[in-house]
Amino acid sequence: MQEVFKLSQTATELLAEKYGTPLLVLSEEQVKKNYQFLAQQLPGVKLHYAVKANPDRRLVQALAESGSFFDVASDGEMLELTAMGIKPERMIYANPVKTANGLAVASRTGVKKFTFDSEAEISRISEAIPGGTVLLRVRVDNPLALVDLNTKFGARSEDALLLLKNAREHGLDVAGLCFHVGSQSTSAKAYLDAIKMCERLFAEAKAEGFELRILDIGGGFPIPTLQEEFDIVAMTNEISCALKEHFPNTEIWAEPGRFICGTAVNLITRVIGEQIRNHQQWYFLDEGLYGTFSGVIFDHWDFELEAFKSGEQIAATFAGPSCDSLDVMFREKATKRLNVGDLILVPNCGAYTSASATVFNGFAKASIVVWEEYEAELKKD
Ligand SMILES: Cc1ncc(COP(=O)(O)O)c(C=O)c1O
Repeated sequence: MQEVFKLSQTATELLAEKYGTPLLVLSEEQVKKNYQFLAQQLPGVKLHYAVKANPDRRLVQALAESGSFFDVASDGEMLELTAMGIKPERMIYANPVKTANGLAVASRTGVKKFTFDSEAEISRISEAIPGGTVLLRVRVDNPLALVDLNTKFGARSEDALLLLKNAREHGLDVAGLCFHVGSQSTSAKAYLDAIKMCERLFAEAKAEGFELRILDIGGGFPIPTLQEEFDIVAMTNEISCALKEHFPNTEIWAEPGRFICGTAVNLITRVIGEQIRNHQQWYFLDEGLYGTFSGVIFDHWDFELEAFKSGEQIAATFAGPSCDSLDVMFREKATKRLNVGDLILVPNCGAYTSASATVFNGFAKASIVVWEEYEAELKKD
């Protein structure tokens, strides 16, 4: 089972008292451990952290110090990383359909690696960054992933050669292929199928005179959930063996997001109201669907709620603080009985949570404190 960062009851209470709630607590150590775990399990694979999963500067900085490369999706992410001193050579602009401003910023900041999956994008990239390095994103079907990205992106394998040729004709440096099996993919099978398909496409490309040199296996690496058990060590071992067997001489990249940041953040939220509505117990929290729990909608994530309580287990509805009736995170959620003022700890809250939070209704986004900095301060006192 993968190690996760989880605060104790005492730490939760002390942090809530010091900083107020809702509060996000980030462990930089856990981020580094997650990075090192994947680097060790997938030896030789260049890890590009997918910044979209959690763009917090301190988290990105911790990864930059660990030697990570980065997958950026927009002008904003490129500008932010550039401002942090991260060199453009460490970034891939891995959004198959880029904005005009995104391409302009890539040109300005010196980002030269891109993904694409259509003819239209080839002309746009070659006009903005002549001779840029490109990876063709191919479609892989994996309905088992929690978030299936392939309904929106990825060229059909039968169109791959035409697109590679078109990119070459436009003067681009056609370097390889990439795929994404979908986020929170709990079995190795989708990766193995995609690796075999790419081996076939590499061979077909070679017959047409291409010397493809990079395979990017994307993200999708899973973190522990309430619903499903899986063996991340066995899974990554299988992927690593397949890469060695089918791509012994190719540079391999990956774009993990969730795996790096998901287990490194805890949310502390407080019960601010309770009611019986239609014979159901309702609890209102000071964090909701428009904040950190945006992951319920955008990421289809079911969060674990730890109330540090014993006693009767009930099923309750949990709602957020806004005036919108959509702002309900969980229905029929198993919980101990709670009171107004109780704290709730939510572990595994680092991926696709604060990244998609809004300030709807005027609620500020939950502030983020770094656990190791808090610990160091405690030691000083
Ligand atoms: C192109 C690309 N790469 C990587 C990722 C990160 O995926 P994950 O968080 O599942 O590792 C995403 C997620 O949307 C993505 O779109």
